[in-house]
Amino acid sequence: MMAAKTSIDEFKNLLNSSNRILALCGAGLSAASGLPTFRGAGGLWRNYDPTSLATPKAFQRDPVLVWFFYAWRRHLALKAKPNRGHYALAELAKKKDNFLCLTQNVDGLSPRAGHPESKLRLLHGSLLDNKCFNECGYIDRNNLSDPVCPALAPAAEDYPSHQTLPLLDPNVPVPSVKTEDIPHCPNCKTGLLRPGVVWFTESLDGEMLSEVNDWVDQERIDIMLVVGTAASVYPAAGYTFKARDKGAIVVVVNPDADSSRGLTPRDFFFQGDASEILPQLFEGVIGKMDEYGNIL
Ligand code: OAD
Repeated sequence: MMAAKTSIDEFKNLLNSSNRILALCGAGLSAASGLPTFRGAGGLWRNYDPTSLATPKAFQRDPVLVWFFYAWRRHLALKAKPNRGHYALAELAKKKDNFLCLTQNVDGLSPRAGHPESKLRLLHGSLLDNKCFNECGYIDRNNLSDPVCPALAPAAEDYPSHQTLPLLDPNVPVPSVKTEDIPHCPNCKTGLLRPGVVWFTESLDGEMLSEVNDWVDQERIDIMLVVGTAASVYPAAGYTFKARDKGAIVVVVNPDADSSRGLTPRDFFFQGDASEILPQLFEGVIGKMDEYGNIL
Protein backbone atom coordinates (compact mmCIF):
# COMPACT_ATOMS: atom_id res chain seq x y z
CA MET A 1 0.00 0.00 0.00
CA MET A 2 1.25 3.51 -0.82
CA ALA A 3 2.26 5.58 2.19
CA ALA A 4 0.49 8.67 3.50
CA LYS A 5 1.98 12.13 2.90
CA THR A 6 4.44 13.56 5.42
CA SER A 7 5.05 17.09 4.11
CA ILE A 8 4.33 19.82 6.67
CA ASP A 9 4.14 22.46 3.93
CA GLU A 10 1.61 20.49 1.98
CA PHE A 11 -0.49 20.09 5.16
CA LYS A 12 -0.25 23.83 5.90
CA ASN A 13 -1.71 24.60 2.46
CA LEU A 14 -4.51 22.13 3.08
CA LEU A 15 -5.29 23.66 6.49
CA ASN A 16 -5.39 27.19 5.04
CA SER A 17 -8.00 26.22 2.51
CA SER A 18 -10.01 24.00 4.89
CA ASN A 19 -13.22 24.94 6.59
CA ARG A 20 -14.79 22.06 8.54
CA ILE A 21 -12.27 20.27 10.75
CA LEU A 22 -12.85 17.49 13.28
CA ALA A 23 -10.23 16.29 15.77
CA LEU A 24 -10.09 13.17 17.93
CA CYS A 25 -7.52 13.31 20.73
CA GLY A 26 -6.24 10.69 23.15
CA ALA A 27 -3.82 10.17 25.99
CA GLY A 28 -0.79 10.82 23.74
CA LEU A 29 -1.76 14.51 23.60
CA SER A 30 -1.07 14.75 27.33
CA ALA A 31 2.07 12.55 27.29
CA ALA A 32 4.34 15.59 27.02
CA SER A 33 2.64 16.98 30.15
CA GLY A 34 3.93 13.92 32.00
CA LEU A 35 0.65 11.98 32.17
CA PRO A 36 0.86 8.24 31.48
CA THR A 37 -1.02 6.77 28.50
CA PHE A 38 -3.24 3.69 28.94
CA ARG A 39 -1.69 1.16 26.61
CA GLY A 40 1.85 2.49 26.40
CA ALA A 41 4.99 1.72 28.41
CA GLY A 42 4.57 1.62 32.18
CA GLY A 43 1.03 0.36 31.55
CA LEU A 44 0.35 -1.21 34.94
CA TRP A 45 -0.96 0.54 38.04
CA ARG A 46 0.35 -1.52 40.97
CA ASN A 47 -0.37 -5.00 39.50
CA TYR A 48 -3.53 -3.94 37.69
CA ASP A 49 -4.20 -3.22 34.07
CA PRO A 50 -5.67 0.31 34.44
CA THR A 51 -8.57 -0.54 32.15
CA SER A 52 -9.59 -3.34 34.58
CA LEU A 53 -10.18 -0.67 37.25
CA ALA A 54 -12.30 1.46 34.93
CA THR A 55 -15.58 -0.43 35.25
CA PRO A 56 -18.68 -0.17 37.46
CA LYS A 57 -18.06 -3.79 38.52
CA ALA A 58 -14.56 -2.95 39.77
CA PHE A 59 -16.03 -0.05 41.77
CA GLN A 60 -18.74 -2.26 43.25
CA ARG A 61 -16.17 -4.88 44.19
CA ASP A 62 -13.59 -2.52 45.71
CA PRO A 63 -14.53 1.18 45.72
CA VAL A 64 -11.54 2.09 47.90
CA LEU A 65 -9.05 0.58 45.43
CA VAL A 66 -10.74 2.26 42.44
CA TRP A 67 -10.86 5.59 44.29
CA PHE A 68 -7.14 5.33 45.08
CA PHE A 69 -6.45 4.81 41.37
CA TYR A 70 -8.54 7.85 40.43
CA ALA A 71 -7.31 9.99 43.31
CA TRP A 72 -3.76 9.36 42.05
CA ARG A 73 -4.73 10.25 38.46
CA ARG A 74 -6.53 13.41 39.66
CA HIS A 75 -3.43 14.43 41.58
CA LEU A 76 -1.21 13.95 38.49
CA ALA A 77 -3.68 15.83 36.28
CA LEU A 78 -4.00 18.74 38.71
CA LYS A 79 -0.21 18.99 39.02
CA ALA A 80 0.37 18.75 35.24
CA LYS A 81 0.35 21.73 32.91
CA PRO A 82 -1.16 21.89 29.44
CA ASN A 83 1.52 21.49 26.76
CA ARG A 84 2.04 23.17 23.38
CA GLY A 85 -0.18 20.55 21.74
CA HIS A 86 -3.17 21.56 23.90
CA TYR A 87 -2.45 25.25 23.28
CA ALA A 88 -2.09 24.73 19.52
CA LEU A 89 -5.49 23.00 19.33
CA ALA A 90 -7.07 25.71 21.51
CA GLU A 91 -5.69 28.44 19.22
CA LEU A 92 -6.85 26.60 16.10
CA ALA A 93 -10.33 26.42 17.65
CA LYS A 94 -10.30 30.19 18.12
CA LYS A 95 -9.26 30.80 14.50
CA LYS A 96 -11.42 28.27 12.67
CA ASP A 97 -15.17 28.70 13.11
CA ASN A 98 -15.98 25.17 12.06
CA PHE A 99 -13.54 23.22 14.19
CA LEU A 100 -14.80 20.63 16.67
CA CYS A 101 -12.39 18.79 18.96
CA LEU A 102 -13.43 15.49 20.55
CA THR A 103 -11.15 14.42 23.35
CA GLN A 104 -11.10 11.09 25.12
CA ASN A 105 -8.92 12.65 27.81
CA VAL A 106 -10.38 13.23 31.25
CA ASP A 107 -7.43 15.24 32.62
CA GLY A 108 -8.85 18.75 32.15
CA LEU A 109 -5.77 19.97 30.26
CA SER A 110 -7.60 21.11 27.09
CA PRO A 111 -10.05 23.30 29.06
CA ARG A 112 -7.11 24.68 31.07
CA ALA A 113 -5.32 25.56 27.80
CA GLY A 114 -8.29 27.82 27.04
CA HIS A 115 -9.88 25.62 24.39
CA PRO A 116 -13.29 27.27 23.80
CA GLU A 117 -15.94 25.11 25.48
CA SER A 118 -18.27 25.31 22.48
CA LYS A 119 -15.60 23.63 20.33
CA LEU A 120 -14.58 20.89 22.73
CA ARG A 121 -16.41 17.71 23.73
CA LEU A 122 -15.17 15.64 26.66
CA LEU A 123 -16.27 12.27 25.29
CA HIS A 124 -15.17 10.34 28.37
CA GLY A 125 -16.11 12.92 31.00
CA SER A 126 -13.77 14.53 33.52
CA LEU A 127 -11.61 13.31 36.39
CA LEU A 128 -12.52 16.51 38.20
CA ASP A 129 -16.25 15.78 38.29
CA ASN A 130 -17.67 13.58 41.04
CA LYS A 131 -21.09 12.04 40.60
CA CYS A 132 -23.44 9.74 42.50
CA PHE A 133 -22.79 6.04 41.86
CA ASN A 134 -26.49 5.36 42.57
CA GLU A 135 -27.37 7.74 39.74
CA CYS A 136 -29.53 10.09 41.80
CA GLY A 137 -28.41 12.80 39.38
CA TYR A 138 -26.00 14.63 41.71
CA ILE A 139 -22.82 15.89 40.08
CA ASP A 140 -20.11 18.09 41.56
CA ARG A 141 -18.27 19.66 38.61
CA ASN A 142 -14.67 20.78 38.45
CA ASN A 143 -13.82 19.82 42.01
CA LEU A 144 -10.19 20.87 42.46
CA SER A 145 -9.61 19.49 45.99
CA ASP A 146 -6.46 17.45 46.16
CA PRO A 147 -6.64 15.00 47.82
CA VAL A 148 -10.29 14.59 46.92
CA CYS A 149 -10.95 13.68 50.59
CA PRO A 150 -8.60 13.30 53.60
CA ALA A 151 -8.68 9.47 53.56
CA LEU A 152 -7.26 9.42 50.01
CA ALA A 153 -4.27 11.64 50.90
CA PRO A 154 -1.74 8.81 50.24
CA ALA A 155 -2.60 9.16 46.52
CA ALA A 156 -1.76 12.85 46.50
CA GLU A 157 1.71 12.77 48.02
CA ASP A 158 4.63 14.19 46.11
CA TYR A 159 7.75 12.12 46.04
CA PRO A 160 11.19 12.93 44.65
CA SER A 161 11.41 11.48 41.13
CA HIS A 162 13.95 8.81 42.14
CA GLN A 163 11.59 7.40 44.78
CA THR A 164 8.37 5.48 44.26
CA LEU A 165 5.20 6.71 45.87
CA PRO A 166 4.37 3.90 48.35
CA LEU A 167 0.86 3.64 46.88
CA LEU A 168 2.36 2.71 43.51
CA ASP A 169 4.51 -0.11 44.94
CA PRO A 170 2.57 -3.37 44.47
CA ASN A 171 4.53 -4.86 47.39
CA VAL A 172 3.15 -2.26 49.79
CA PRO A 173 -0.48 -2.96 50.76
CA VAL A 174 -3.08 -0.39 49.69
CA PRO A 175 -3.66 1.84 52.75
CA SER A 176 -6.56 0.53 54.74
CA VAL A 177 -9.43 2.98 54.38
CA LYS A 178 -13.02 2.33 55.36
CA THR A 179 -15.74 2.73 52.75
CA GLU A 180 -17.39 5.29 55.10
CA ASP A 181 -14.37 7.53 54.63
CA ILE A 182 -14.49 7.81 50.84
CA PRO A 183 -16.75 10.45 49.27
CA HIS A 184 -20.51 9.98 49.70
CA CYS A 185 -23.34 11.61 47.80
CA PRO A 186 -24.54 14.68 49.74
CA ASN A 187 -27.81 14.64 47.79
CA CYS A 188 -29.37 11.17 48.13
CA LYS A 189 -27.10 10.26 51.07
CA THR A 190 -27.31 6.60 50.07
CA GLY A 191 -24.76 6.37 47.28
CA LEU A 192 -21.02 6.72 47.10
CA LEU A 193 -19.59 9.40 44.87
CA ARG A 194 -17.54 8.15 41.90
CA PRO A 195 -15.35 9.88 39.34
CA GLY A 196 -17.35 11.55 36.54
CA VAL A 197 -15.66 9.56 33.79
CA VAL A 198 -17.11 7.03 31.37
CA TRP A 199 -16.19 3.50 32.37
CA PHE A 200 -16.05 0.40 30.20
CA THR A 201 -19.55 -1.10 29.69
CA GLU A 202 -21.07 2.40 30.17
CA SER A 203 -22.55 4.58 27.44
CA LEU A 204 -21.30 8.00 26.52
CA ASP A 205 -23.63 10.92 27.24
CA GLY A 206 -26.48 10.51 24.76
CA GLU A 207 -27.18 14.22 24.30
CA MET A 208 -23.53 14.96 23.61
CA LEU A 209 -23.27 12.09 21.13
CA SER A 210 -26.31 13.12 19.14
CA GLU A 211 -25.02 16.69 18.99
CA VAL A 212 -21.63 15.46 17.73
CA ASN A 213 -23.29 13.14 15.22
CA ASP A 214 -25.42 16.03 13.93
CA TRP A 215 -22.27 18.11 13.45
CA VAL A 216 -20.57 15.27 11.58
CA ASP A 217 -23.58 14.55 9.37
CA GLN A 218 -24.27 18.19 8.49
CA GLU A 219 -21.97 18.54 5.48
CA ARG A 220 -18.59 17.67 4.03
CA ILE A 221 -15.65 17.48 6.46
CA ASP A 222 -12.30 18.69 5.11
CA ILE A 223 -9.83 17.37 7.70
CA MET A 224 -9.96 14.69 10.41
CA LEU A 225 -7.09 15.13 12.89
CA VAL A 226 -6.29 12.02 14.95
CA VAL A 227 -3.91 13.01 17.73
CA GLY A 228 -2.23 10.74 20.27
CA THR A 229 -4.77 7.96 20.33
CA ALA A 230 -4.48 4.24 19.75
CA ALA A 231 -8.03 4.61 18.34
CA SER A 232 -9.09 1.31 19.84
CA VAL A 233 -12.02 2.41 22.01
CA TYR A 234 -15.48 2.91 20.47
CA PRO A 235 -17.53 4.92 19.72
CA ALA A 236 -14.68 7.50 19.81
CA ALA A 237 -12.50 5.66 17.29
CA GLY A 238 -15.44 5.41 14.87
CA TYR A 239 -15.35 9.16 14.16
CA THR A 240 -12.34 8.71 11.88
CA PHE A 241 -14.40 6.43 9.62
CA LYS A 242 -17.44 8.71 9.75
CA ALA A 243 -15.31 11.72 8.82
CA ARG A 244 -13.72 9.81 5.95
CA ASP A 245 -17.21 9.01 4.68
CA LYS A 246 -17.87 12.75 4.71
CA GLY A 247 -14.84 13.33 2.48
CA ALA A 248 -12.20 14.09 5.13
CA ILE A 249 -8.48 13.75 4.62
CA VAL A 250 -7.21 11.93 7.72
CA VAL A 251 -4.17 13.36 9.50
CA VAL A 252 -2.54 11.19 12.18
CA VAL A 253 -0.07 12.59 14.72
CA ASN A 254 1.52 9.80 16.75
CA PRO A 255 5.07 8.51 17.44
CA ASP A 256 3.96 4.93 16.79
CA ALA A 257 4.40 3.91 13.14
CA ASP A 258 1.57 1.37 13.50
CA SER A 259 -0.92 4.19 13.93
CA SER A 260 -0.50 5.05 10.21
CA ARG A 261 -2.12 1.75 9.30
CA GLY A 262 -5.11 2.23 7.01
CA LEU A 263 -4.01 5.67 5.79
CA THR A 264 -4.14 6.28 2.04
CA PRO A 265 -1.89 8.45 -0.17
CA ARG A 266 -4.30 11.39 0.18
CA ASP A 267 -3.91 11.28 4.02
CA PHE A 268 -1.05 12.57 6.19
CA PHE A 269 1.06 10.91 8.87
CA PHE A 270 3.28 12.94 11.19
CA GLN A 271 5.32 10.62 13.36
CA GLY A 272 6.33 12.10 16.71
CA ASP A 273 5.28 14.02 19.80
CA ALA A 274 2.03 15.99 19.43
CA SER A 275 3.39 18.87 21.55
CA GLU A 276 6.15 19.42 18.99
CA ILE A 277 4.27 18.66 15.80
CA LEU A 278 0.91 20.44 16.26
CA PRO A 279 2.36 23.97 16.69
CA GLN A 280 4.33 23.46 13.45
CA LEU A 281 1.34 22.11 11.56
CA PHE A 282 -0.95 24.99 12.60
CA GLU A 283 1.62 27.79 12.42
CA GLY A 284 0.17 29.28 9.20
CA VAL A 285 -3.19 29.79 10.95
CA ILE A 286 -2.28 30.44 14.60
CA GLY A 287 1.18 32.04 14.23
CA LYS A 288 4.45 31.01 15.87
CA MET A 289 4.32 29.59 19.39
CA ASP A 290 7.00 29.84 22.08
CA GLU A 291 8.08 26.91 24.25
CA TYR A 292 5.41 27.69 26.86
CA GLY A 293 2.52 27.72 24.41
CA ASN A 294 2.22 31.52 24.00
CA ILE A 295 1.64 32.86 20.52
CA LEU A 296 4.50 35.23 19.63
P1 OAD B 1 -3.85 4.81 24.60
O1 OAD B 1 -2.94 4.70 25.77
O2 OAD B 1 -4.59 3.61 24.15
O3 OAD B 1 -3.02 5.35 23.36
C1 OAD B 1 -2.15 6.42 23.46
C2 OAD B 1 -1.61 6.73 22.08
O4 OAD B 1 -0.80 7.88 22.20
C3 OAD B 1 -0.72 5.62 21.48
O5 OAD B 1 -1.11 5.40 20.13
C4 OAD B 1 0.68 6.22 21.56
O6 OAD B 1 1.50 5.78 20.48
C5 OAD B 1 0.38 7.71 21.43
N1 OAD B 1 1.39 8.60 22.02
C6 OAD B 1 2.27 8.36 23.04
N2 OAD B 1 3.03 9.45 23.27
C7 OAD B 1 2.62 10.40 22.40
C8 OAD B 1 3.01 11.75 22.14
N3 OAD B 1 3.99 12.36 22.85
N4 OAD B 1 2.38 12.44 21.15
C9 OAD B 1 1.40 11.84 20.42
N5 OAD B 1 0.99 10.57 20.63
C10 OAD B 1 1.59 9.87 21.60
O7 OAD B 1 -4.84 6.02 24.92
P2 OAD B 1 -6.20 6.44 24.22
O8 OAD B 1 -6.20 6.11 22.77
O9 OAD B 1 -6.48 7.82 24.62
O10 OAD B 1 -11.11 5.29 28.06
O11 OAD B 1 -7.22 5.48 24.96
C11 OAD B 1 -8.57 5.61 24.69
C12 OAD B 1 -9.39 5.31 25.88
O12 OAD B 1 -9.04 4.04 26.43
C13 OAD B 1 -9.21 6.25 27.06
O13 OAD B 1 -9.97 7.43 26.94
C14 OAD B 1 -9.69 5.43 28.19
C15 OAD B 1 -8.97 4.16 27.87
O14 OAD B 1 -9.40 3.05 28.45
C16 OAD B 1 -11.87 5.19 29.12
O15 OAD B 1 -11.44 5.26 30.26
C17 OAD B 1 -13.32 4.99 28.78
